[in-house]
Amino acid sequence: MEKAIPAHVGIIMDGNGRWAKHRGLVRTQGHLEGLKAAKRIVKAASDLGIKFLTLYAFSTENWKRAEEEVGFIMGLVKQYLRAEFDFSKRNKIRVRHAGNIDGLPVDIQKEITDSIESTKDFNGMQVILAINYGGRDEITRAFKRFVNEINARTGDSIDKYPTENDIRNYLDNPDVPDPDLIIRSAGEYRTSNFLLWEGAYSEIYISQKLWPDWDKEDLETAITDYQGRDRRFGGVKT
Ligand code: IPE
Ligand code: IPE
Ligand code: MG
Repeated sequence: MEKAIPAHVGIIMDGNGRWAKHRGLVRTQGHLEGLKAAKRIVKAASDLGIKFLTLYAFSTENWKRAEEEVGFIMGLVKQYLRAEFDFSKRNKIRVRHAGNIDGLPVDIQKEITDSIESTKDFNGMQVILAINYGGRDEITRAFKRFVNEINARTGDSIDKYPTENDIRNYLDNPDVPDPDLIIRSAGEYRTSNFLLWEGAYSEIYISQKLWPDWDKEDLETAITDYQGRDRRFGGVKT
């Protein structure tokens, strides 16, 4: 591919449950296959030269699911983070997190912070795992951090604040550029609370394919589609 590769791609990895159901399997089996797809796509994205990849793995609303399913997903997250260190090291992949880490089980919190710490100097692709992530929750937490800091400053009047930049600066990963492209698998036409702020001008690509069936070719098709888009950002072409 010669055209520009999007710097930041976000993926709503959806359809694990349906994939399992179509095969007469339990939903958790779909999550297991979904994890394999996630590994394929991380490798493919890194090979394609994508700089930031945000994977939506568990939303703030996914706690509504059966305890068994939630527990299984948490176990997979742990397994993934442990098993992938060698891969990250070889490919210089830096692992980061988006979402409310305090709301996760302590063992998962530790696994996440350990991965962030042990990969922090890697200068290849950054993989941002959105786990216990909700766009509204992220903006709410950003606002709270901001207010806390303003309260600590003297002489500043609250009515000047916050500006858009103030809010952006208190999001989970303020240095990461907005996603150029947001992909959703499994054919639902909604954001489901993914990157509400950052995705304001992202190109959206929706695929009917269920997440466990995704491979490098699907990512390439999405990127080719993205490369044909006309991004105007509210302006008019001269
Ligand atoms: C996406 O697959 C994974 C998570 C949300 C954790 P789903 O589990 O939502 O799969 P469907 O939508 O039921 O098929
Ligand atoms: C979005 O998928 C969340 C993730 C992929 C982690 P959901 O399956 O939770 O979204 P809805 O319920 O279809 O909107
Ligand atoms: Mg779903």
